[in-house]
Amino acid sequence: MQESPSAAPVSAPVSGPVLHVLGARPNFVKAAPVIRALGERGARQTVVHTGQHYDERMSDVFFRDLGLPEPDVNLGVGSGGHAEQTAALLVGLEREFLDRAPALVVVYGDVNSTVAAALAAAKIHIPVAHVEAGLRSFDMTMPEEVNRRLTDQLSDLCFVTSPEAIGHLAGEGVPTGRIHLVGNPMIDTLLANLDRFDVAAARAAHGLPGRYVLATLHRPANVDDPATARALVGHLHGVADLADVVIPVHPRGRATLLAAGLADHPRLHVLDPLGYVDFLAAVRGAAAVVTDSGGLQEETTILGVPCLTVRPNTERPVTITHGTNRLVTFEEVVPAVRKALEAGTAGERRTPPLWDGAAGPRIADIILEFLGD
Ligand code: UD1
Repeated sequence: MQESPSAAPVSAPVSGPVLHVLGARPNFVKAAPVIRALGERGARQTVVHTGQHYDERMSDVFFRDLGLPEPDVNLGVGSGGHAEQTAALLVGLEREFLDRAPALVVVYGDVNSTVAAALAAAKIHIPVAHVEAGLRSFDMTMPEEVNRRLTDQLSDLCFVTSPEAIGHLAGEGVPTGRIHLVGNPMIDTLLANLDRFDVAAARAAHGLPGRYVLATLHRPANVDDPATARALVGHLHGVADLADVVIPVHPRGRATLLAAGLADHPRLHVLDPLGYVDFLAAVRGAAAVVTDSGGLQEETTILGVPCLTVRPNTERPVTITHGTNRLVTFEEVVPAVRKALEAGTAGERRTPPLWDGAAGPRIADIILEFLGD
């Protein structure tokens, strides 16, 4: 095939800044300590916000709460089907990478922005670092599992938060020299901000009851289908019969959950999404958490709050073996919450290896060594 005159060059220059690609809420929390540590070491950095999350409460508040630098550019890709969103991400990111000629692209977690950035960079021969590599749910119906597997195959540096991830990567043929167990940058952020998680202030600001269960639900498998959402809401009402339930609702599934009658229980308090500090304060003050989030399984492990994860699997098994997490079916939600409320404690737990608040500096040192600084 003949090369079209407008085709992108096959390779980009290899000198330049470390370029971080951030797109969705959990990315911001993971990137903050890495950007800070690289900054402290004098690295030149660029932050590209893809605009996958764009609401003030899904994005801006996190940049403020976490002291993240203003993005150098926001691509404004917004929402859409997987193909539409990923295609827009690929086009926008390749353009930025060619213009900015980064030495390395750093991607976080498992969202669509993550895999798009890794693919766009790899195709023009820019090395990729993946923070939170090697997690596996072994459930390919989850978009995140597809994103994780592909991103890891394209990454030159795989930063791993948990020991079992090393085996997953090795089993998929990732050379061991690329794999680095560094701890968990999301926990760096949690520990760095612990003093700011003021439960009394969050209670006052958001009208939280004295004792409550905090719920968050946004996985497509739980909230996209109206019949599934109705079933789930029925169980949440069952929980609300036991204790007040506070649920900051992610925009995905908001309409479906409300149509399923979410708010039709006097002890179920529906809130808008919260900022980082307010949300973690609300988690810290909760008697138990019911969730399908990935990050919250880790945060509750460190905060010592019982966590019931409404999913058939988790890519974060260390939160079960070491932490406070337990997987539950829909039918198990009410009895499991009852048990947690009666116990009044999360039980014994251990801190997973290297979840000590120093993942960001470890990642920064390995990146700088990789770049030959
Ligand atoms: C994405 C990630 C998911 C992560 C979650 C954290 C993928 C495939 N999924 O899911 O892994 O756990 O972020 O929040 O990348 N919307 C808004 N405002 C926003 C952003 C989204 O209203 O600022 C609404 C839109 O209706 C959109 C829907 O939420 O269609 C879903 O957004 P999207 O980014 O596609 O996926 P999430 O469900 O947020």
